[in-house]
Amino acid sequence: MSEKFVDSGSTVPTFIEEKVEWERKPADIDANLKNYDEACQDFDWKEVEARFDWHKTGRVNVVHEAVDRHAASWRKNKVALYYTDEGRDEKYTFQDLKLLSSKFGNVLKKLGIKKGDRVGTLLPRSPELYIGVLGINRIGAIPVPLFEAFMEQAIEDRMENSGAVAIITNQRLKQRIPYDKLPAMKHTILVGAKGEMAESVLSEEEEASISVGDSGALYVPLEKGEVSYEEEMSSASEDCDPEWLTLDDGLIIHYTSGSTGRSKGALHRQYAMVGHYQTSKWALDLRDDDIYWNTADPGWVTGTSYGIYGPWTLGISSVVLGGKFGAARWYKTIEKYKVTMWYSAPTAYRLLMGAGEKVAQRYNLSSLRHICTVGEPLNPEALRWVRKITGLAPHETWWMTETGMQLICNYRSMDFKVGATGKPFPGTYATVADDEGNELPAGQMGHLVVKPGWPSMMQTIWGNEEKFQEYFKIKGWYLTGDSAYKDEDGFIWYAGRVDDVIKTCGERVGPFEVESALVQHPAVAEAGVIGKPDPVRGQAIKAFITLREGHTPSDELKREVIQFVKENLATHAAPREIDFRDKLPKTRSGKIMRRVLKAWDLGQPTGDISTMDD
Ligand code: WTA
Repeated sequence: MSEKFVDSGSTVPTFIEEKVEWERKPADIDANLKNYDEACQDFDWKEVEARFDWHKTGRVNVVHEAVDRHAASWRKNKVALYYTDEGRDEKYTFQDLKLLSSKFGNVLKKLGIKKGDRVGTLLPRSPELYIGVLGINRIGAIPVPLFEAFMEQAIEDRMENSGAVAIITNQRLKQRIPYDKLPAMKHTILVGAKGEMAESVLSEEEEASISVGDSGALYVPLEKGEVSYEEEMSSASEDCDPEWLTLDDGLIIHYTSGSTGRSKGALHRQYAMVGHYQTSKWALDLRDDDIYWNTADPGWVTGTSYGIYGPWTLGISSVVLGGKFGAARWYKTIEKYKVTMWYSAPTAYRLLMGAGEKVAQRYNLSSLRHICTVGEPLNPEALRWVRKITGLAPHETWWMTETGMQLICNYRSMDFKVGATGKPFPGTYATVADDEGNELPAGQMGHLVVKPGWPSMMQTIWGNEEKFQEYFKIKGWYLTGDSAYKDEDGFIWYAGRVDDVIKTCGERVGPFEVESALVQHPAVAEAGVIGKPDPVRGQAIKAFITLREGHTPSDELKREVIQFVKENLATHAAPREIDFRDKLPKTRSGKIMRRVLKAWDLGQPTGDISTMDD
């Protein structure tokens, strides 16, 4: 990070010392984690290790711990996954997941895919996506989840960098995969390519190009390198023992964004399950009779660490809602499944708040007993809103794609302050430090840093050890890129990013990726991208652009450029606002000075711009 923490050590203005008023005192709450301070004193990760079968057998595979061992226990017929979306309403027991992920493991093996190979997933939230990830893990291959909204450029970057040899996707999303640029990609497993399911995944246009065979079923001809998920699954054997691995073997690669360069692949190892398990138990407070709903998509880390590995190693029943956000359908999901534990994000709460109280009142939300949130700071208004409609205050969990697991949280049995991010998870150490790594006293702003060595920490950045090392620039610490301060009571308060990483709707977007997409538009010469405060999204993406000769600024051009980014990168990564400029502020080496763009946006003085071109 070139960004030095110039303000390091500066005193924090004032604390918002508002305590959450509880209906029941946290001390009376029967939480899995009974007493935070005591837990910190005698915590030992070795005791958590003993919860896993590999501890006795020496044979490691997360799918054994998350699925097979439950299928061999009283949980065999317990529902692991409830899935609902327009036109689909399904449930899968742990035994079902064992059989289906075994079948899918055999489908992959038949294609020659083996331990260590990377396999992309590009599917909507659906049972096939979960079965896909489990099947990939079962044979020791490494899933590389792609968010459903990714378009060609985003997919190319991630699939190319990971060297993925195969991908599971559907007919609609397949159109975005640039196969000619991905020589390593040999196989495509198409969900719904043949048979009755084809209907639900196709656009009208695509449907028009499909022939209806004698049987009356929709038939999409397969192309070279493609196999049909349904066909292969129907003939695959249900026997597929997990590939036995070591704790250091790959678990998953999640791509994420920094402030410079293309997205980077955080490689996680099998041992991460130890962290997923314990945080799911103590921070999410999951227990056997819970109906757990995590709203995150498995294209992002929250959807796998806490949508697959954490809850299922604990044997918990999970709900997955397909499709888009909608206040009524979200509340309905809680009511219908009697959801007890809900993990979501501040943007979602703000959207629910925007939909108004009337919608909320139509549904019975009384099944809920605990709520957690992640991804961006929880503003007091959103907290109060959720509390108003559910009677429960959302508990913050702070973590990152790279950390793999929650590290700073508000725990159910602990009093907390509105706006405080929380306290380090027992057995981990997070604090605030200056540029040299000296810990700062309470009330002083600095880098949020973590002592390396927690179980779920990424192993490396895929194919880029140098980038990985950048996280350890401050000796002895993992540098998060966030700024924060601590208070006298040991609470950590998140303050913002030190770098230019954008958080929009809880999703992380790298300005470089957006800038690169923008300059591919024929009218755009240069682009600089920043995140600006937004009441609903947390941050909104704003682009400053200069135009090539022969092009003139217009509202139409703005719309066209935004649409271009949506179609090439992803809808959530497209700017919401564009400003035309004659010139952008740059350093002598040609780097765009985003801090000047931020000042422009706020109408603030631009400070020292002496390094600019002229
Ligand atoms: C931000 C998501 C405030 C933070 C799991 C971090 C948060 C980045 C919180 C990681 C929180 C995450 N309060 N900010 N409770 N949780 N963040 O990789 O800036 O998508 O560095 O991981 O999100 O984002 P990522």
